[in-house]
Amino acid sequence: LYIGIDLGTSAVKLLLMDGEGKIQKIVSKEYPIFFPNPGWSEQKPEDWFAKTMEGMKELIDGVDKEKVAGISFGGQMHGLVILDEKDEVIRPALLWNDGRTFEECDYLNNVIGKEKLSEYTANISFTGFTAPKILWVKNKEPENFARISKIMLPKDYVAYKLTGVHCTDFSDASGMLLLDVKNRKWSKEMCDICGIREEMLPRLFESYECVGTVKKEIAQELGLAEHVKVAAGAGDNAAAAVGTGTVGDGMCNISLGTSGTIFISSKKFGVDKYNALHAFAHADGYYHLMGCMLSAASCNKWWMEDVIGTKEYGKEQEKIAGLGENHVYFLPYLMGERSPHNNPNARGTFIGMTMDTTRTDMTQAVLEGVAFALRDSLEVARSLGIHLERTKICGGGAKSALWKKMIANIMNLKVDVIESEEGPALGGAMLAAVACGEYGNVEEAAAKIVKIINTVEPDPELVEKYEARYQQFKEIYPACKPLFE
Ligand code: XUL
Repeated sequence: LYIGIDLGTSAVKLLLMDGEGKIQKIVSKEYPIFFPNPGWSEQKPEDWFAKTMEGMKELIDGVDKEKVAGISFGGQMHGLVILDEKDEVIRPALLWNDGRTFEECDYLNNVIGKEKLSEYTANISFTGFTAPKILWVKNKEPENFARISKIMLPKDYVAYKLTGVHCTDFSDASGMLLLDVKNRKWSKEMCDICGIREEMLPRLFESYECVGTVKKEIAQELGLAEHVKVAAGAGDNAAAAVGTGTVGDGMCNISLGTSGTIFISSKKFGVDKYNALHAFAHADGYYHLMGCMLSAASCNKWWMEDVIGTKEYGKEQEKIAGLGENHVYFLPYLMGERSPHNNPNARGTFIGMTMDTTRTDMTQAVLEGVAFALRDSLEVARSLGIHLERTKICGGGAKSALWKKMIANIMNLKVDVIESEEGPALGGAMLAAVACGEYGNVEEAAAKIVKIINTVEPDPELVEKYEARYQQFKEIYPACKPLFE
């Protein structure tokens, strides 16, 4: 048996998978997120670990614990966790959707320069990335910066607590802006720019490599055998790609979670010359390009629960008719935007309402706005000569048949629906299985485990209607941009 831990933004999801890749059980535990200032976003690493342990106990309750062979992760990316000499957490973690580091990003992109950053890391700086966060702590909280002994990413904190090994994997490390992605090693230049020593950074592993075993006291607390292996795991998007079989060359996965991502796998290293898509290492040992929007399913959650005050997502969506005919548009930039605009000050906007606009039109606009914004990243990939015909899909938003249909038609992609949309948690369990030798490599695990159950085909008539809408949508951000300064 293998445990996959998806350390997400709203909750940790734990999944138990057997050797054949069948999901046996899923447990989810929520933890709070703090927005101490506009655009800031933080969580307590201690909460992540406490909830992971609580969830793990529930997950393996009633299971033959001796059979648990491996554990691994998909973790929210980019978050900065800093520990002092005594391994105490110095301050709450700054998360991937935290936008406070615009001055540091400006310094990195414009003083150090995008060309240099790209040469050192294959990427430029975005506010959510880890290096600008380190600089922010250095500039704004020098007393905390002086105490830093270890730097790590969210899932790596949990791995450290479980194993005592200070480790990370190449996919997640790629999002720190400290990794020389092409050569899979830390960038000395970036360490110097951030004023840190390489010893503060975790040891690098491939996602499917074993970093150690669970500590004796943890094994005892959970009732596990002491030899349970822990594999490095991956950033949640790379883990989700594994869980949806998006490995090897030219495959695509769309994730509709708190964030929205489009993930394109590649066996060859490549950089987006427009700097809109991230060029990261993949969990299968190769590479990928990725566009990330900061608010995807979270826009829908905000609209449904916080604004119109209902949790009946299905009921609300049932009323939507007239795909491709909505005159209301929504810019989904509730937390600013990463790909492709790289603007932490961008904001959400409804536009185009009339006296007969209904709440249903606005619900539709929210769902469509997220799909249009994902298409912006797809267009960047297309302009790089990447040709895609189909995509997998995962994340909470992927449960909606209507949203999948919108994605298929707005993006003109065939959407392959797989048996389980539990991307990162399943991917984590699969990485653990590879680390334990159950499968020869990640591609083999994906080929044996991931099953497509049906495909949503784009409908040419709808594609055409949505094409006209997308051309209008594209005009809205540049028109509103001056208001977002
Ligand atoms: C990717 C990103 C998000 C988080 C969400 O670059 O920032 O998708 O990984 O957990």
